Amino acid sequence: MAKAKQVLEESIRELYEALKPKCLMLADMGCGSGPNAFLVVSEIMEAMNEACKNLNRPVLEFGVFLNDLPGNDFNALFLQFLPSFYRQIEEGDGCNFGPCFVSATPKSFYGRAFPTQFLHFVHSSFSLHWLSQVPKGLVTNEGVALNKGNIHIAKTSPPGVHKEYYKQFEMDFNVFLRSRACEVVHGGRMVLTFQGRIQSNDTNPILEPIRSALHDMVLEGVIDEEKLDMFNMPCYFPTVEEVKQSVEAEGSFTLNKLETFTVDWSVDETQNLRDRVEFVVKSIRSVMESLFTSAFGKAAMKDLFLRFKDKVEEPLARQTSQYFNLLVSMTRRA
Ligand SMILES: C[S@@+](CC[C@H](N)C(=O)[O-])C[C@H]1O[C@@H](n2cnc3c(N)ncnc32)[C@H](O)[C@@H]1O
Repeated sequence: MAKAKQVLEESIRELYEALKPKCLMLADMGCGSGPNAFLVVSEIMEAMNEACKNLNRPVLEFGVFLNDLPGNDFNALFLQFLPSFYRQIEEGDGCNFGPCFVSATPKSFYGRAFPTQFLHFVHSSFSLHWLSQVPKGLVTNEGVALNKGNIHIAKTSPPGVHKEYYKQFEMDFNVFLRSRACEVVHGGRMVLTFQGRIQSNDTNPILEPIRSALHDMVLEGVIDEEKLDMFNMPCYFPTVEEVKQSVEAEGSFTLNKLETFTVDWSVDETQNLRDRVEFVVKSIRSVMESLFTSAFGKAAMKDLFLRFKDKVEEPLARQTSQYFNLLVSMTRRA
């Protein structure tokens, strides 16, 4: 989020100068249940206030909509973080904030979540690489698994696997763009960050140690081979070109910026190796454990993440542990 801040601020400033809304309606899509949601909302509000001040305009009101799937822990979000966020606004923190009204929008972002021409600004970080479902074509009508022994697109995956994943991404991203095109006012903006890939045949490096841990568990009889063969991750990491193509084909948004940046899996490469390994295991476990539990059972989880811990140490030590990310800024066409 820190790496996206400059593009975010620039987009907010341009949005304010173009539309000068009295009440800015903003949505964070896939907000999660941690403090990041309010961090980004604060950043947006500060940037908007700054733009307002520069034009000598009165302070703005804000309508903030935190979106995620209905199963998201909105209670944690609102009970733990909302009171201090409201306090921060009331106390000003050096800024003269206008009133801010925060609501939850529990709905998949792959479909309509807001009324027509309702939003001025849409933000989303690290959510759009999650697909709406595992591509159905990865298992044939006869029940044959196409991606045996792998959990995502891997070097040993047959070409059909990439094709099925890409088809699902294209469909989902098109639905996302079409839905937001209805909801965002003309001249409104979106800033999206998500994981991507440099080239379309690259594999995602963080998934390899997980695959390898699961594979070892199959060899030792801890997990059924068939369960691993049938399991695939519901995510896709597009290239710059794939995103560009999708945005242009859908046609409702003008691409202002499409940048890439990398972040170490442990975020902070300067920490000692033990802490970095610990951070990576905890963060991946918090995001992915429920998926693995449904596929392989709760009893296997402790063992899986202990093995994963051993396997991430080497790439972290060699500093080859990078997430490759895309940062996209766009404007709703008139
Ligand atoms: C890794 S978290 C990112 C949370 C937060 N935006 C951040 O940057 O820290 C991904 C979030 O996307 C949400 N998500 C995934 N698919 C979604 C969908 N179709 N609609 C809404 N939210 C979704 C997940 O529930 C999860 O909370």
